[in-house]
Amino acid sequence: MNVAALDLPELTTDETAHSAALQTRIAATIGAAGGWVSFATFMRLALYEPGLGYYSAGARKFGAAGDFVTAPEVAPVFSRCVAVQCAQVLRTLGPDAVMLELGAGSGTMAAVMLAELRKQDALPAEYWILDVSADLRERQREAVAATAPDLLSRVRWLDALPAGFDGVVVGNEVLDALVVERFAMRAGQVRALGVGVADDGSLQWREADGSAELAGAVRAIEAELGQRLPEGYESEINLGLRPWLQAVAEPLRRGMMLFIDYGLPRRELYAQERSRGTLLCHFRHRFHEEALARVGLQDITAWVDFTTVAEAAQSAGLDVAGYTTQAHFLIGCGITDFVANVAELDLAERVNLSRQAMILTLPGEMGERFKAIALTRDCDLPLRGFGVRDLRHTL
Ligand SMILES: C[S@@+](CC[C@H](N)C(=O)[O-])C[C@H]1O[C@@H](n2cnc3c(N)ncnc32)[C@H](O)[C@@H]1O
Repeated sequence: MNVAALDLPELTTDETAHSAALQTRIAATIGAAGGWVSFATFMRLALYEPGLGYYSAGARKFGAAGDFVTAPEVAPVFSRCVAVQCAQVLRTLGPDAVMLELGAGSGTMAAVMLAELRKQDALPAEYWILDVSADLRERQREAVAATAPDLLSRVRWLDALPAGFDGVVVGNEVLDALVVERFAMRAGQVRALGVGVADDGSLQWREADGSAELAGAVRAIEAELGQRLPEGYESEINLGLRPWLQAVAEPLRRGMMLFIDYGLPRRELYAQERSRGTLLCHFRHRFHEEALARVGLQDITAWVDFTTVAEAAQSAGLDVAGYTTQAHFLIGCGITDFVANVAELDLAERVNLSRQAMILTLPGEMGERFKAIALTRDCDLPLRGFGVRDLRHTL
């Protein structure tokens, strides 16, 4: 399918120029690399190239006016529930414990969480934000200033992972924004789906032999499935997920890492019927698979392999303390109480809150596609968000 067939909204002149500038930059990188780069290299440039990448340049990405809506943007009640779970852990860790939010996006979740943690009498000593896109800092600062101005002094923006700390690490829709490789099965071989440059200067899909690392990872999936992936099967794999998670886990002396994202256990993610993978692009609330189009103007994501997340955490010495659907996580954290105890709201606000809770929890909306996983170190608690339904056996 080409972009014209997708019938996406027209671009402004500025958007067209921005995308063309990034495409030229990517084409130069491909040229310097001998005519081909892996999909992960392309995705890194498309999303994070300083000044031009999707997350590194000023476009409005999040919320109704942007390209996609994440759970914190759907409703504050999501972040309030996450705060309930974090508060439970922070309380046991004591007053020096900190929060570290990875990939804070617009800062909405940080703002609501801080306000809710105060209500719960469980404020962390500091609230750190580490986002690969420094461009978002001002927006995050404004979000906290608008909701909890007196707590802004507790927020600190980090340039790199911190030294050892006790606390809670959270990341909503961060794992799906990490770069992935794409591969295809051809005549029994693992081929890498990468990117080249056509004669007219446009970017085009191009295949190459899969690296030993990529082929090894795909063969390991096949061994686990007990069968070969079929001819023509295409999918994605995040070869950087294990080292990334281990690096994030390393400074956590005591506490919890909590990730919420769309994804599946590995056996389901690589099921035969998912033969085109899970790569998805978001442009003004339209979803499509044309990752090479509109570079710099659209988000590119892939579903998370939660089995790898769990394995990486265990290798880093953490316990997989919980894994469940977003719906069950939110119910465990008391979303129904938040929706019921609304004496201060008028009727329209109540209806709106109920509608938001449904989007967050219904199976056909965000409730089942999204999962929550809790990874703990030296923190043996019956975690609230994971008490309703335990899906760890599926990992
Ligand atoms: C899809 S957005 C989610 C934003 C926000 N958490 C939310 O739920 O609305 C992904 C965010 O992760 C950030 N990000 C991507 N890779 C990252 C990394 N390796 N470390 C920290 N942040 C990262 C992006 O800059 C972006 O802010």
